[in-house]
Amino acid sequence: MDLLRWRADLARLASLRRGGRLVLVPTMGALHEGHLSLVKEAARHGAVVVSLFVNPTQFGPGEDYAAYPRDLAADLDLLRALAPAAVFAPTAQEMYGSGAGATVQPGPRAAVLCGAARPGHFAGVLTVVAKLFHLIGPDVAVFGRKDAQQCLVIAEMVRDLDFPVRLVDAPTVRESDGLAMSSRNRFLAGADRQRALCLWRALSLAKARLEAGERAPEAIEQAMRGELAVADRIDYAEVRTLPELERPARALGRVLLAVAAGVGRTRLIDNLALNVGPDGVEPCALFEVGATTG
Ligand code: PAJ
Repeated sequence: MDLLRWRADLARLASLRRGGRLVLVPTMGALHEGHLSLVKEAARHGAVVVSLFVNPTQFGPGEDYAAYPRDLAADLDLLRALAPAAVFAPTAQEMYGSGAGATVQPGPRAAVLCGAARPGHFAGVLTVVAKLFHLIGPDVAVFGRKDAQQCLVIAEMVRDLDFPVRLVDAPTVRESDGLAMSSRNRFLAGADRQRALCLWRALSLAKARLEAGERAPEAIEQAMRGELAVADRIDYAEVRTLPELERPARALGRVLLAVAAGVGRTRLIDNLALNVGPDGVEPCALFEVGATTG
């Protein structure tokens, strides 16, 4: 496992690339089983490069950039067991220099849900992902469905700006009680950890309503809000179309159930991507099988 800290170190990826496909797993570190599942998925597609970088440009003023957990040694220990070919862990100075210059602006998929709740967030995500794609030059990049809107906004960039990279989305890894794994879960103490389960309960109830034949988005959203009422703040509880994230007249076909809520000082998100058909309700991927961009 080659540790790359500087842009100049990236020249060492050339030998890996000659051997076959390069697969990137971008992360902000504070790794958990969810991240590790992406690394395992990535290994199926080629030689794996994991990036560990807490990206300042995707945090808004007053968000948790300073408090975001950072532990390079622990992350490297976890990764060693999976033996990716390389880990890229640059400093903020190395990635951005001193300037806030050109950025990548997202398309319409970023205007809703987390994009509405966190202005500028997806421009920061796209800017760093575009930089990582250029610096590392992966053939394939793996992202988690846990951040479904992020996947779709990145897919839009890849499609519209002709990035020569294939995107793969991996399923959400959950704790045994359903809570989606997240680097921010470590901030949930005592009763807040229990209350955090309201996101999974909201999604489970919405899925049950769909299975029972409910197709009105408003009714499903109201049911989700009912479960989220124990949170300190509801950011959103919505039914959206996949992959465009528009408001459906009826919850039919490929839909995303998406929730975001504040528990204590921690903001949590979760979602279910479902194909609602005449014969039932099935989980579905965000990117069409075999498509480059979803
Ligand atoms: P981060 O939150 O560290 O997540 C890195 C990747 O792990 C993302 O693709 C995310 O969707 C995935 N992931 C997180 N929790 C997961 C879970 N429980 N199950 C499966 N996958 C999970 O997302 C980011 O970092 C950043 O925005 C980044 C893309 C690295 C750009 O800075």
